[in-house]
Amino acid sequence: MGDRKFFVGGNWKMNGLKPDIDEIVAFMNAGPLNENTDVVVSPPAIYLDYARQKLNANIGVAAQNCYKAGKGAFTGDISPEMIKDCGCEWVILGHSERRNVFGENDELVGAKTKYALSQGLSVIACIGEKLEEREADQTMDVVQRQTTALIENIGDNWGKVVLAYEPVWAIGTGKTATPDQAQEVHQKLRAWLAGKTSDTVAQSLRIIYGGSVNAGNCKDLAQKEDIDGFLVGGASLKPDFVKIVNAKE
Ligand code: PGA
Repeated sequence: MGDRKFFVGGNWKMNGLKPDIDEIVAFMNAGPLNENTDVVVSPPAIYLDYARQKLNANIGVAAQNCYKAGKGAFTGDISPEMIKDCGCEWVILGHSERRNVFGENDELVGAKTKYALSQGLSVIACIGEKLEEREADQTMDVVQRQTTALIENIGDNWGKVVLAYEPVWAIGTGKTATPDQAQEVHQKLRAWLAGKTSDTVAQSLRIIYGGSVNAGNCKDLAQKEDIDGFLVGGASLKPDFVKIVNAKE
């Protein structure tokens, strides 16, 4: 449906020293990467500049987080302005590790999204339910609650947003959602979003899946109508990531 360009992000999390980054850059620059897919990698903040300078221009670079202000007394944090100053155009916000390890709530993720967009960054906004929430049949309630906090802050900037559905139980666990499980959530989210925003937004928004995506499962996931790409953690550190980028024919 629609002509949504496939999008694959590689979230390096807190991994990679310069020699490791050099190896990743080498296989990313060598590709070949499908031209019909948007590709973005996300190094740790301290290496944004280093990675941006070494990666080919067709590979986007995202920060893994940022704060909701341009500058000031916020020790340890970085601003959208700094991300842009390093030549990067994307930021991941609301990743489940930010929410669950660092205690970020919907309100803060929403405020960060609003500020990053106001500065011209594009945002990979992450949502997803925990295992106990899925088992209690609360998956849609949770992802709708998280997305509602985003809608209020995105306004008419949907063109600069990619929504990443990442069930927490599938992240880093080796337990991927089946293509049908992911498709079901993506399809329901899109239908719900049409009511909350517009048909145009819902049909053009890329909803990507994250959680133990690898070279073996990516093709089946990519075939699903409402799966518009991936956010990849562990597998984005290995040369197999190129296969994942090229999952969609
Ligand atoms: P994973 O992580 O691919 O290692 O499960 C995905 C993510 O956290 O974005």
